[in-house]
Amino acid sequence: MSPPTTVLVTGGAGFIGSHACADLLDHGYEVIVVDDYSNSSPQVLPRLERVAGRFVGAVYELDIRDRRALSAVFDRHSVDAVMHFAGLKAVGASTRMPVAYYDSNVGGLTSLLRAMHGHGVHRLVFSSSCTIYGDAGHGPLPETTPARPTNPYAFSKWLCEQILKDVCLRHPDYSVLCLRYFNPAGAHPSGLLGEDPRGTSGNLMPHVAQVATGRQEKVRVFGGDYPTTDGTAVRDYLHVLDTAEAHRIALDHLVDTVGLRVYNLGAGRGSSVLEVVAAFSEACGRPIPYEIVSRRSGDVAELVADASAVDRDWGWHPTRGLAEMCHDAWRFQLLNPHGYAGAARHPGEKR
Ligand code: UD1
Repeated sequence: MSPPTTVLVTGGAGFIGSHACADLLDHGYEVIVVDDYSNSSPQVLPRLERVAGRFVGAVYELDIRDRRALSAVFDRHSVDAVMHFAGLKAVGASTRMPVAYYDSNVGGLTSLLRAMHGHGVHRLVFSSSCTIYGDAGHGPLPETTPARPTNPYAFSKWLCEQILKDVCLRHPDYSVLCLRYFNPAGAHPSGLLGEDPRGTSGNLMPHVAQVATGRQEKVRVFGGDYPTTDGTAVRDYLHVLDTAEAHRIALDHLVDTVGLRVYNLGAGRGSSVLEVVAAFSEACGRPIPYEIVSRRSGDVAELVADASAVDRDWGWHPTRGLAEMCHDAWRFQLLNPHGYAGAARHPGEKR
């Protein structure tokens, strides 16, 4: 089987999706973007084209649950493989709006699978999450760790994996890679692409970046009494460029994969919240004020990947560390203090 050359990317204007598109374009792939801009901006597209020095093949503004519109995209393009990033991802919001989360994440996937099936497209890289491990305890977690989802977002990702497993059992010609991300962070080193969540995302790195610019007063550190070295929660942060690169490499392995394979995407190294704050202070050259407040409901003490499987099977591991993530996130924040909407114009950038 020949490797994929035309890749349809759902959620291609989002944080991880846009970096994946830039990386694909950079490596000669034809890229078709589908996005409803519910948590992203169309302004991302000219920027990622600028970063890659190439045009995106086509862009469609649509909700992937609109089956007719999605099918028309597959009618129009000869898609070899799909990267599926579109979906909702805030844990807290998922507990308040469970139906919206299941509808978007599970309904989105089933709609996509119908369109793929109807057009003979059987290769998929799926965005899953370490959140499905729940409170799995201390130490690096291998992919065999039993799933214990604790909120609707986590359940929706776990359900999606089950759906994909069943599809692959029923249809042996499917080739699916589920990538369970730990904590993607950072930004493109150009300062053109980064994380620009709508409203308050609640994620740590964008929050720290906003405190660094003075847009927010201080970092609220959720919990100082965890059983970790400094009492704050530990996560495995992975540069978004490494995350994007892993997706491209996954495409090559779709060719030699039969059925469903699941991989952790993490650095295999944990950093506490205070370590992130310290690394960001170093990156921006000023102390970042913080205050330890009570734990955030649903948070766990530690989530660190056993990242050895992807290294063993693909010979790939992330190369960018926390300092680089903070530098890149800081650059994006400086150049885009109000996100994509109010971004400072970059030299040569057209509006
Ligand atoms: C969560 C999900 C993850 C999801 C990601 C993106 C879990 C276990 N993980 O990651 O699957 O993909 O969100 O939405 O549910 N923190 C603070 N102050 C803040 C913000 C965060 O101290 O203002 C702490 C959190 O308590 C946590 C760490 O920073 O310990 C990272 O938080 P965050 O960036 O929100 O990611 P997760 O909760 O790990």
